[in-house]
Amino acid sequence: MSAQDPLYYWSYLGLDELLGAQRLVSASDGREPAHDELLFIVTHQAFELWFKQILWELDAAIETLGQEPVPEAAMGQVVRNLERIVAIQPLLVQQFQVLATMTPLDFLDFRDELIPASGFQSVQFRLIENRLGLPPRTRLKIKGARYTSRLSEEHAQRLDASESEPTLLGVLDRWLARTPFLRFGEFDFWAVYREAVETMLERDRRLIEHNPSVDEVVRQQQLDAFEVTRDTFGPLFDHDAWEALRAEGKRQLSQESFLAALLISLYRDEPALHLPFRLLTALIDLDEGFTAFRNAHAQLVHRTIGGRIGTGGTSGHGYLQAAARRHQVFTDLFDLATYHLPRKELPHLPEQVREQMSFRYADRG
Ligand code: HEM
Repeated sequence: MSAQDPLYYWSYLGLDELLGAQRLVSASDGREPAHDELLFIVTHQAFELWFKQILWELDAAIETLGQEPVPEAAMGQVVRNLERIVAIQPLLVQQFQVLATMTPLDFLDFRDELIPASGFQSVQFRLIENRLGLPPRTRLKIKGARYTSRLSEEHAQRLDASESEPTLLGVLDRWLARTPFLRFGEFDFWAVYREAVETMLERDRRLIEHNPSVDEVVRQQQLDAFEVTRDTFGPLFDHDAWEALRAEGKRQLSQESFLAALLISLYRDEPALHLPFRLLTALIDLDEGFTAFRNAHAQLVHRTIGGRIGTGGTSGHGYLQAAARRHQVFTDLFDLATYHLPRKELPHLPEQVREQMSFRYADRG
């Protein structure tokens, strides 16, 4: 095509390549094709196209949020990158519903010919997981082998390299740690929040101790449960205990960043925190969206191959269910709710802090 040729729909979209890329293994050697294999290929290809778009949005979000400082005007774009991924995710779940119209018997017409290929080898899906910040040590191992063990050398190297590239979790952690409002002049959010927590816990303990409608056995049970609640707050105020949890992989964010996320979620109505709150919400939605993807996939696998092992060699449905639980990335953001205080018990922000958090326009009158 020369520079003068008008743009043509078919070639612009590369439809020769795209529509010529469905090669049915069941129809090789001039055999009659298995009818459902086209659906199987088209669905996987549609997924991979959306994975490409998701990576595009993730890369942009990581690059922007990774800047120090993040240009204020760019924050909205990061939120839009993430919200776009969240809008794509329900499509992925729906695509599994389309593929579920292929019954187990239909699949058996060509399944054995797929061995040893499997979605387990989806390089783009692994890149998404790594970009999000799934720690390599968290991954489930298959018979002791790494997730890259069934990939070509080129793909395995690409994924190995991606493990040391910036992640969304990593840039979020550093961005949160720089939140300006944690200490502001005389104001120390850490100290006022801790005081509010202690007041709330003390009140809860007194309520249990003086509740006239329970006997001593129930009272003791309630006091034991209360101690468990108190213990969950412990590491929040103890740097070493928090870091120990982090080292065990039970916490992802630094203590400072977690506290910043808490401040954002508790005081989200202050104008300067609107966008940061939308960012945290989008991350929770996004994590939930991938869990929904994994659950929908595991359900599809269960109804299509039952208890059989996968073509990629895992236990199949059981492995996928375990991965859905274990391969979540932003669990700290879900856990923020554990540390929320009712609005009426929230410490009031000093006026000069609120002023800094508001959008005030100079009176030009
Ligand atoms: C009838 C349809 C499908 C079946 C029976 C199926 C089966 C499986 C099984 C058994 C696994 C575990 C690995 C293995 O042992 O092979 C797996 C992994 C995977 N499949 Fe599928 N799959 C289907 C459709 C899809 C589709 C449409 C996609 C979209 C790209 C997909 C993407 C994946 C991914 C990304 C993994 C790795 C998941 C992880 O390790 O967390 N699968 N699949």
